[in-house]
Amino acid sequence: MSNASAAAAARTDLFDPVQLGPYTLANRIVMAPLTRSRADDAGVPGELQAKYYAQRSSAGLIISEATNISPQGKGYIRTPGIWSPEQVAGWKLTTKAVHDKGSRIFLQLWHVGRISHPDLQPGGALPVAPSAVLAVNQQAYTYEGFKPLVTPRALETAEIPGIIADYARGAKNALDAGFDGVEIHSANGYLLQQFLSDKTNKRDDRYGGSIENRTRIVVEVVDAVTKVCGSDRVGIRLSPLTTFGDIGDSNPEPLYLSLIEQINPYKLAYLHVIEGETRGDRNPAGGFDLQKLHRAFNGLYMVNNNYTLELALEAREKKLADLIAFGRPFISNPDLVERLRDGAPLTPADPDTFYAGEERGYTDYPSL
Ligand code: PHB
Repeated sequence: MSNASAAAAARTDLFDPVQLGPYTLANRIVMAPLTRSRADDAGVPGELQAKYYAQRSSAGLIISEATNISPQGKGYIRTPGIWSPEQVAGWKLTTKAVHDKGSRIFLQLWHVGRISHPDLQPGGALPVAPSAVLAVNQQAYTYEGFKPLVTPRALETAEIPGIIADYARGAKNALDAGFDGVEIHSANGYLLQQFLSDKTNKRDDRYGGSIENRTRIVVEVVDAVTKVCGSDRVGIRLSPLTTFGDIGDSNPEPLYLSLIEQINPYKLAYLHVIEGETRGDRNPAGGFDLQKLHRAFNGLYMVNNNYTLELALEAREKKLADLIAFGRPFISNPDLVERLRDGAPLTPADPDTFYAGEERGYTDYPSL
């Protein structure tokens, strides 16, 4: 360790253990969920994923890549699922490999909603969403390459209990597969954020209109998933200021404060917030102070988006967050925690292998 990094380590608890629900995490650094598109066409992960996640087990907590809760929830080729017995069996390789290395792993429960394409849907059906509102200028990556998205079909009110049951089944299957908990993906313009946001939710039933109505499905998912896992094994991810996937809300502050007020009674393990624009500006114009969410929430607060060691140290010094999730740096630095602790240089990631390449750009990045 260099003198500078020894000094940095002395003034931070970033590399110290922290309690998350029933688990003592080895440190406050989290591997963020990262879509890597290397499952088979049935959404089954295998030995390759087990090796990849095990290599990254010095993270205090790993959150799996976004994982489809149902065939309808899928929007990208070769993303994994958590609805079939084969998928559960495949994921067991990963959870065992991570546990053997002494880390913890949550599965991220995902339904993409309108961010899909008939080519990826059962029976070539239209993707579903709260309302028939097209995501403008967005492409789906299908088996035949990129195709423009189509206008989705609005879900019937009577279909919503089935969607919630799919989240609950995903949570049950995740526990069966050996995951330590689950993260509810309510961010980045996918189904749950499509319900939250007035840009995409034009419904006139009890799932649309007022803030209470637009937040209803998320609260119902939290209710169903915590019944399966226990509250302290459940986290939720939000991105209140993102426009990713053509999402947006005319007044996000009261919307997200209301959501937090409603989920606080469940005593979730953590709230995971993408600060600003996904993979972009951490402080976009027209935003609000996201620390208001931190102050409102009654569990651990996890932050993400373009973090560096310096930003992470500052977040802990100023108590802006309990846990720091790093995404892209974990792709190309399997030993990211050691490198940050030792002040070692980071290897840049190759975007050409983010979503393709099998072991190339996946399990072949060296540790120091
Ligand atoms: C992606 O595949 O690009 C992706 C998936 C899930 C996210 C964000 C991005 O939350």
